Amino acid sequence: MISDLKHGEEIQMALYRGGYGSGPVFPLSFEEWEQKAREKLAAGPFGYVHGGAGSGETMQANRDGFRRYRIRPRICCDVSERDLGVELFGKRIEVPFLLAPIGVNSIFHPEAEKAVAKAAAKLGVPYVLSNVASTDMERIADIMGDALRWFQLYPPKNEELSQSFIRRAEAAGYSAIVMTVDSTLLGWRETDLRNAYLPFLEGHGMANYFTDPVFRAQLKEPPEENLKAAVEKALDEGNNTLLTWKQFRKIREWTKLPLLLKGITHPADALLAMEHGADGIVVSNHGGRQLDGAIGTIEALPEVAEAVNGKVPLLIDGGFRRGADILKAIALGAHAVQIGRPYIYGLAVAGQAGVEQVLSNLLAETELQLAISGKCGIKDVDRSLIWDIRDHG
Ligand code: GLV
Repeated sequence: MISDLKHGEEIQMALYRGGYGSGPVFPLSFEEWEQKAREKLAAGPFGYVHGGAGSGETMQANRDGFRRYRIRPRICCDVSERDLGVELFGKRIEVPFLLAPIGVNSIFHPEAEKAVAKAAAKLGVPYVLSNVASTDMERIADIMGDALRWFQLYPPKNEELSQSFIRRAEAAGYSAIVMTVDSTLLGWRETDLRNAYLPFLEGHGMANYFTDPVFRAQLKEPPEENLKAAVEKALDEGNNTLLTWKQFRKIREWTKLPLLLKGITHPADALLAMEHGADGIVVSNHGGRQLDGAIGTIEALPEVAEAVNGKVPLLIDGGFRRGADILKAIALGAHAVQIGRPYIYGLAVAGQAGVEQVLSNLLAETELQLAISGKCGIKDVDRSLIWDIRDHG
């Protein structure tokens, strides 16, 4: 089983020796996984994960940004011992990537977030569980045992509900809270509008809400009796357009867990976040799903990294598909990367086994990239590895 192998070369050689198709026949590249997922899923669910806001320019900018930077390797370095590990909030993780929060996994596979959690725990990849998961956070915690997990929060309008989500996450062993701030309204998503597809309306992605005592107490009838009203209430809670730094400051005070702010692309916001007590920054444009025509995250990273200046952990997501992308982000100042659509396509195609395969391929590719660029450890990767094409006319 590929996922039991630990080193890039071992995974690579197992594929050569066994033949990639010797077990279940899986795709290999991101594009092939995407294509298989497209074939497998109905138009609504596929469009939901695949699509972006408006023209799709932000998703494109995420990818195009990587082309601006090239890796310039060093040679004749002893790279026989390699270490992909990074430290975040005092905990070592074995890989420089986490699974980004993506909700409503029941539209992709019947095992939903449970399959993702099992794969993440098995491969030692931290999992950021979405607030709008189809599986409640306590069930995911049971599955993951001691494996590292964080909880993502869309701060609801109701502060008591926010507190309740945070208290539950603390009790269930989530070791950081990632507060997403770029989605107090849904972006203009033409694929979903064309498909008239919003999974929440069918009750997907509501598990954390529907199991919450504070949320349930607000309803006239429980979700089991009146799904429509419960969904409308949850969606209304999520559209927290009143969100300001003042509310962030309050949320900060409700927990001792590290609190990261996700959805930052402007260096001034990174400074404000730290000023208001954020323990970490996630450079993100929500995978291009929110604001059309926006800056790509890898384009935004260098200035944000300069503002953060190593004071708090800096993460990034948006368009990460390959080991090369991960190395570039680390070289430009990120401490770790979040992976999104790739693992969802793995889930859609083959459940837990699909997620494991996607992750182990990424792990192998990242390790080989690291070594072939002349570095032994993620901690040795810095700006000197990058050649910016704009500096060379
Ligand atoms: C929700 O977070 C979404 O991007 O659909």
